[in-house]
Amino acid sequence: MSLKKAYEQYFKIGTSVSKWNMEWPQAAKELQKHYNSITGENGMKPMFVLDMEENVEHPEKYNLNPALNFDSIRAFLKFSTENELGLRGHTLVWHNQTPFWFFKENYSLDEKAPWADRETMLARMEGYIKGVLTFVENECPGVIYAWDVVNEAMEENEEDGWRKKSPWYQTVGEDFVAYAFRFARKYAGPGVKLFYNDYNTFLPKKREDICNLILKPLLAEGVIDGIGMQGHLILNDSDLKEFEKSVHTFGELGLEVQVTELDIHCNSPEEEAMKQLADTYAKLFGILVDAKKNGKANVTSVTFWGMKDDESWLTGFRKEKSYPLLFGEKYQEKAAYEAVMRVVQ
Ligand code: XIL
Repeated sequence: MSLKKAYEQYFKIGTSVSKWNMEWPQAAKELQKHYNSITGENGMKPMFVLDMEENVEHPEKYNLNPALNFDSIRAFLKFSTENELGLRGHTLVWHNQTPFWFFKENYSLDEKAPWADRETMLARMEGYIKGVLTFVENECPGVIYAWDVVNEAMEENEEDGWRKKSPWYQTVGEDFVAYAFRFARKYAGPGVKLFYNDYNTFLPKKREDICNLILKPLLAEGVIDGIGMQGHLILNDSDLKEFEKSVHTFGELGLEVQVTELDIHCNSPEEEAMKQLADTYAKLFGILVDAKKNGKANVTSVTFWGMKDDESWLTGFRKEKSYPLLFGEKYQEKAAYEAVMRVVQ
């Protein structure tokens, strides 16, 4: 048995993948066995696609239409095609992992240089989205089934919901989100689903902000298909009742729901902690399967953020070792794996 087979009738099962994962035979074997979807953990983000040398050396040429380098994206397209994996595109418009010079007048490398103006940034945004979406459609149509068009535009600690420090917010203003989705709809291939992706989407205030400021306006324009609930949870801390409420709330809007970056931070590998982790995963998958079965939300894929514990980004991010996934260092199945399988067996 495998994850993807067990969940076949409900939703795709995915994992984030690094460029090394695609080169390691053992990882490729695990990918073929358990998953039918992958997301580039980093390699498809703007910092790997924007061609710094070209843009910085020839700003007059690229000022309104940035130079792009598709080598990194090409590797994901090739691997997905060869292994018959769906690919989630992550991500087009984000405040993080997008180089600061992209937002500067004349692509200046001087951190004190003025920001580019709104019109320039909208042109650069359109050029970027057009370039990437046209490339992937020409190269491998149909492989990328969903794009995180905008990532993390909301901030739960801001009263009005907007992440004001984002250079997109600073240079363009609130409607950068609407423009990004309009451009994505204009250039995406047929059938490619467009997602808004964010973390802590189970927090009541953030859920409400996302619905009112992002999802409803985009739905009214017909330019969004789904919401990505990242799902970076913390053991014994993240509220699964609220998580379920978010799944249902987003589902009721008529959007596809995908869990896009699932992991549950847990700082102990001891048996008791691993049992709690297993219980939490079982509850979470129970919520997702129930929502799908009973028509409360069209959950279409669930993606883990990492293939195994020792590769998880959380150890660096949370500054303590983390054991947040279904598989251990040698890809051995943990109690959490068994628990997730039991939900549907
Ligand atoms: C993380 C990667 O896992 C790390 O390797 C990288 O250093 C930083 O980004 N939200 C997202 C993901 O949307 O892109 C982030 O991925 C994790 C948080």
